[in-house]
Amino acid sequence: MSRLQVVSGKGGTGKTTVAAALALALATAGKRTLLVEVEGRQGIAQLFETEALPYEERKIAVAPGGGEVYALAIDPELALLDYLQMFYKLGGAGRALKKLGAIDFATTIAPGVRDVLLTGKACEAVRRKDRAGRFVYDYVVMDAPPTGRITRFLNVNDEVAGLARIGPIHNQAQAVMRVLKSRETAVHLVTLLEEMPVQETADGIAELRAAGLPVGRVMVNMVRPEVLDAEDLERVRTLPRASLARALSAAGLGGARRGGHAERLVDPLLDQAGQYAARYELEQEQRAVLGELDLPLHELPLLIEGMDLAGLYELATELRKQGIA
Ligand SMILES: Nc1ncnc2c1ncn2[C@@H]1O[C@H](COP(=O)(O)OP(=O)(O)OP(=O)(O)O)[C@@H](O)[C@H]1O
Ligand SMILES: [Mg+2]
Repeated sequence: MSRLQVVSGKGGTGKTTVAAALALALATAGKRTLLVEVEGRQGIAQLFETEALPYEERKIAVAPGGGEVYALAIDPELALLDYLQMFYKLGGAGRALKKLGAIDFATTIAPGVRDVLLTGKACEAVRRKDRAGRFVYDYVVMDAPPTGRITRFLNVNDEVAGLARIGPIHNQAQAVMRVLKSRETAVHLVTLLEEMPVQETADGIAELRAAGLPVGRVMVNMVRPEVLDAEDLERVRTLPRASLARALSAAGLGGARRGGHAERLVDPLLDQAGQYAARYELEQEQRAVLGELDLPLHELPLLIEGMDLAGLYELATELRKQGIA
């Protein structure tokens, strides 16, 4: 199992949610995971129902079995100061740089440098060891940018090549790429059972592979429960209306009055079944497309009551059941 797990996917498909559930799932049996947010939107804090995360690793959850989840919202400006401090021992000069706007330059004008800092911070956490020589985090899970930007984001080497051909930024980028392109890393893509996100997933995988980045698993999120299967749907299609009305009546639906109102329920019911059948077919088509990708597939249920902390643990349990950890 790769120690750096990157979660991408089309916007709004559940990247943040799945990354958080994955971090919980991997924190089994006393393991420690770090959940990293790079887009500065405090999605993790919201999900875990805690206050906004500072640029500091903090424990935000305990997993069943005693594992721990830490979280970090990486602030690119502070990461740059960190970085300058590490390489140049700048101290107060860092603050002067900030006043001069050099940090704005590096973090907003030169996005390549920004991405090196973000990925660099995650890779540093992956490699960090304690005094006894053990890894501080068993796993690092990154809530990463969406599919459309993920390859470029992770391919920091290419990005900085034009900016820094030698020197510490260059070396940092090389070190980051060594981790990102190795088996230590897996990039997962979250999708829904809908045409657009599935297409984006297929394109994203091709792009990641072309860049030599390791693709992990496909996580199908918000999967609706199967109410009727193909056999049931066939039965609905061929069932005579009269016998449906009789069956409803016999089940006590449509009123107890002789003759009842069961007949009136037949059309709405068949209408609903028809809609369900159409959706079922579309979903099966998308499942088939995903099947062709030849990657491990996981399905996570749509939580109808909406997402909360309990729901998050539910999704983590589901991932564990499906052999993610
Ligand atoms: N399995 C699920 N069941 C129900 N609701 C879900 C599920 N997964 C995610 N959601 C909800 O869907 C919405 C989008 O999820 P999330 O924020 O994780 O997506 P995202 O891909 O990170 O979005 P963005 O692209 O904006 O970062 C949220 O409101 C979240 O609570
Ligand atoms: Mg998100």
